[in-house]
Amino acid sequence: MMQRRKLKLKKPAVMILRIVGIIVVIILGIFIFYSYQIHSLTSLGYSKKASHNILFQFKKDYVLSVGENKTLNAAFESDNYNEKNLDHYQKIKYMPQEHLIHNINKLIKKDYSDYEISMIISHGDDQSVSDFAKRDKVRYLEEFFSIDYARLENYDRYLKYMDEEREDEETTVLHVNLNLDIPDYEQAVEVVKFSIDMFVNKHHYLDKDFKVDNLITVDSKYTVGNEKIQANREAYNAFVAMLKDGEKEDMHFLINSCYRSYEDQEETWNTYKGLYGDNYVLKYVAKPGFSEHQTGLGFDIASTTSNIFVESKESEWLFDNAYKYGFIYRYPKGLESITGYNYESWHYRYVGKKIAKYIEENNITFDEYYVRFLDKK
Ligand code: DAL
Ligand code: ZN
Repeated sequence: MMQRRKLKLKKPAVMILRIVGIIVVIILGIFIFYSYQIHSLTSLGYSKKASHNILFQFKKDYVLSVGENKTLNAAFESDNYNEKNLDHYQKIKYMPQEHLIHNINKLIKKDYSDYEISMIISHGDDQSVSDFAKRDKVRYLEEFFSIDYARLENYDRYLKYMDEEREDEETTVLHVNLNLDIPDYEQAVEVVKFSIDMFVNKHHYLDKDFKVDNLITVDSKYTVGNEKIQANREAYNAFVAMLKDGEKEDMHFLINSCYRSYEDQEETWNTYKGLYGDNYVLKYVAKPGFSEHQTGLGFDIASTTSNIFVESKESEWLFDNAYKYGFIYRYPKGLESITGYNYESWHYRYVGKKIAKYIEENNITFDEYYVRFLDKK
């Protein structure tokens, strides 16, 4: 029978093994303890990096007492973390901006309150907040920035416009965001993409070659005269549905004009200018590139029962019902200073049912709707 030989280690080797064993157990213990601590923070929504820094800054209890907090998380992730500002961080609204903590530190130094800092950072992007944080402390923050759609980068323009035009804060913000403080047709923004809710006015223009989606030719039985008229398909279908429902109520209307290319608009502009002069065209006709007709979504409507549309029963019916089909009355009376045009009883714009309903219920212009909901610079 073979005898098993007992492996006999020498004493120093046993010692070394023991020490290594103890070290391994300690490391394992530290690791488990560390993981447990980290887990208590990550489970609250803190990132691994932030959690690590929270532990090594000995702020775990503080953070646990605050709970989930995105600004605090960003602060502990940032190289600009400043312990002195800890209480501020947790009270300031989080915004996903690259230099968020750096800018917050600067704004705290300028003596803005946490509430004011939240307002500042939530009304601008990283660049405009960084620029704003460099300037001396300003007044009238709440006056403008309690309005949702106020923009930080427009602050100086708001002040100037309010001072010059003596408007209230809300009107000021609306007008400046629409660039109404800049002369018409100057520094205009190009609209490059077609969409049903696209916005075109004297400050938002289309290129000569702008392409309208689904441009189709309108059935001649729905048009005035023999000229071929084109329109966006969705808008046209909505128009036909509206026309058919109108007929059931003895309303008879047709399309006078819809899509006009840049060149068509140039011709329209020149014709009216020749007939009625500069003053007239500026109030009633858009310069080429600045017309909603170039989108295929703007409809000039005529009544078959009266030559003067505004006096027709159809104009009244459309005024009350068009929104149900996704159309809005685009240039209302009394709001010329916002739309840039004299009121046009015949011009309807297709925007889709949802937007049309909102505009109808809230009695606002499309310009205002654009500023509130569509303007994502
Ligand atoms: N009449 C409108 C404003 C246009 O020319 O587009
Ligand atoms: Zn028109």
